[in-house]
Amino acid sequence: MRFVSANFLALFFLCTCSCVLYVWSRLEDRLGRHKRGLHGPGALFAYGKSVDLSARTFRALLAVPVAQKSHQSNKTDSHNSSNTGANKKKHLAHAAKTTSNKLDTFRLTEIIEDGIFWSHKLEDHLPVGFSEEHARTWRHRARGNLVVSLEPGCGRVSNQLATFSDGSKACVRYGINADQIQGETLSYYLANLLGITNIPPSILSRLNIDGEQWGSVRRRVDSLQWSAGAIVSLTEWVANLTGVVTPAPLRQESKGLHPLLAELENRTVSELLELIQWTDLIIFDYLTANFDRLVSNLFSLQWDARVMERDTSNLLRTPSGDLVFIDNEAGLVHGYRVLDMWERYHSTVLSSVCLFRKGTAKRITELHRSRDTRMRLLHLYQDREPLATELGFLSDEHARTLQNRIDRLHQHIQNCRDKYSQL
Ligand SMILES: Nc1ncnc2c1ncn2[C@@H]1O[C@H](COP(=O)(O)OP(=O)(O)O)[C@@H](O)[C@H]1O
Ligand SMILES: *[C@@H]1O[C@H](CO)[C@@H](O)[C@H](O)[C@H]1NC(C)=O
Ligand SMILES: *[C@@H]1O[C@H](CO)[C@@H](O)[C@H](O)[C@H]1NC(C)=O
Ligand SMILES: *[C@@H]1O[C@H](CO)[C@@H](O)[C@H](O)[C@H]1NC(C)=O
Ligand SMILES: *[C@@H]1O[C@H](CO)[C@@H](O)[C@H](O)[C@H]1NC(C)=O
Ligand SMILES: [Mg+2]
Repeated sequence: MRFVSANFLALFFLCTCSCVLYVWSRLEDRLGRHKRGLHGPGALFAYGKSVDLSARTFRALLAVPVAQKSHQSNKTDSHNSSNTGANKKKHLAHAAKTTSNKLDTFRLTEIIEDGIFWSHKLEDHLPVGFSEEHARTWRHRARGNLVVSLEPGCGRVSNQLATFSDGSKACVRYGINADQIQGETLSYYLANLLGITNIPPSILSRLNIDGEQWGSVRRRVDSLQWSAGAIVSLTEWVANLTGVVTPAPLRQESKGLHPLLAELENRTVSELLELIQWTDLIIFDYLTANFDRLVSNLFSLQWDARVMERDTSNLLRTPSGDLVFIDNEAGLVHGYRVLDMWERYHSTVLSSVCLFRKGTAKRITELHRSRDTRMRLLHLYQDREPLATELGFLSDEHARTLQNRIDRLHQHIQNCRDKYSQL
C-alpha cells in the first residue's frame, strides 16, 4: 500500500513538473492579477483560476485504479454510522482512534462529491455535536435548577462559571449592553437554523436575586456589580476543551480550502472531519460577521506574523474532536455595526473556502430563495426562548444585512460550483 502511494506520488510529481514549465508564464500572469484584486493584508489566499490546468492533471491521475481502494472503503465503512446523539461520543472516540492510522486516509474522489461538497461517506463520521434533543434537555434543566455558585472559569470577569444544584455547570455572560447577549443568543439560533451543531446550548435568564434560581448567589451578584434584573445568557459548560490552531489550508500563506487541494488526500479522517467543521465555521462567521475568531487573527497578522501558529480565539475542541464555537457575542449585532472596518477581512476568509457541507449549503439556498431569514430566525428564537421578547431581536436594518449576507454566500457557493464542478 505504501508502495502504491509512493508510486502514485512520484507519478503525480513528474506530471506536475512537466506541466509547470508549460503553464508557468500564464500561471504567473493570472496569479499576479488575482493577487492584486484581493482584499486584505498581503497576498492572502491567492488561489485562483491558475489551478485549473494542474488540476486536470491531478484528476487524470486519480482515474488510475488504486489497488487498495475496495479494501479501504470496506474498512472505513465498518465505522458504524449510526451516530445519534446518545452514542456519538463513543462513536467518535472510536473513529478517531481507528482512523488516526495512516492507512485510513481517503482518496480525493472519496472526500469530495458533486464538485464542491464533502462526501456523504466522510460526513457519516462527523460528530452530531449538540443535537436539538440534547439542547432541549439542557434548557429544561438549566431553567429548573438553582445556581449555587458563581466563580471565575469562563474568561473575563463579566463571564462567570455557574454551578447548578445538580452539579452541572454553565458559563454566565453579563453584557454591558443588550448587543452582546443578543449576539450570543441570536448567533446560537442562527446556527440552529443552518443545522450547525457546534455551539453549546444556551438560555436567557433574568438576574432576579429575590427569586429562587439566583437567590443563593445574590451576594456574589452584588459584588460583581451586576445589576439585578438584567438579562444574562447561560451556556452549557463543556469539560476538557482544548485550543485549536487554524489548519494549514486556511492560513494566509495557503491557497485556500478547495476541491483540488492535493493535500486533502494525505489527511487522516479526523483531520478531514475537523476541516469539515472549519468550513461550517467560516460560513457561520461570515454570516454573523463575527470578527472575533479567524478574522481578528488575520487582522493581527499586520503586527504579529506568528499569530496563526497560536490557538484561534473563541474556538475549542472536545477530546473526541468536535469543534466548539464559543463566545459568539460579537456576531450579528456588534459585528454588523462595525462591518465597515471588517468586511474586507470577512470576504477574504470566505473567498478562501470552496468546499462545503451539503446540508449547510442546502439551507443557505433555501434561505436565499425564500428570502425570509428574519422570520425564520425570529420564530425559532421566540419558540425556544421565553425571554425573547424582553431581550429583543435584530433591527430591520440588521435583518436586511443578514439576508444580504445569505444572498452573497449563496452566490459564492454558485461561483465555486461553476469553477470546480465540471473539472
Ligand atoms: N461553554 C464553555 N465550556 C467550557 N469552557 C468555556 C466555555 N465558555 C468559555 N469557556 C472557557 O473560558 C474561556 C474564555 O471564554 P470566552 O467565552 O471566550 O470569554 P471572553 O468573553 O473572556 O472572551 C475559554 O477559552 C474557555 O476556556
Ligand atoms: C470487507 O472485508 C471483509 C473481511 O473483513 C471481506 O470478507 C469482504 O469481502 C470485504 N468487502 C469488500 C467489498 O472488500
Ligand atoms: C452500530 O452501533 C450500534 C450502537 O453503538 C450497535 O448496536 C450496532 O451493533 C453497530 N453496528 C455495527 C454494524 O457495527
Ligand atoms: C475530562 O477529563 C478527566 C480527566 O482526564 C476525565 O476524568 C473526565 O472523564 C473527562 N470528562 C469528559 C466529559 O470527557
Ligand atoms: C503526505 O504525507 C507525507 C508523510 O507525512 C509527507 O511527507 C508528504 O509531503 C505529504 N504530501 C502531501 C501532498 O501533502
Ligand atoms: Mg472570547
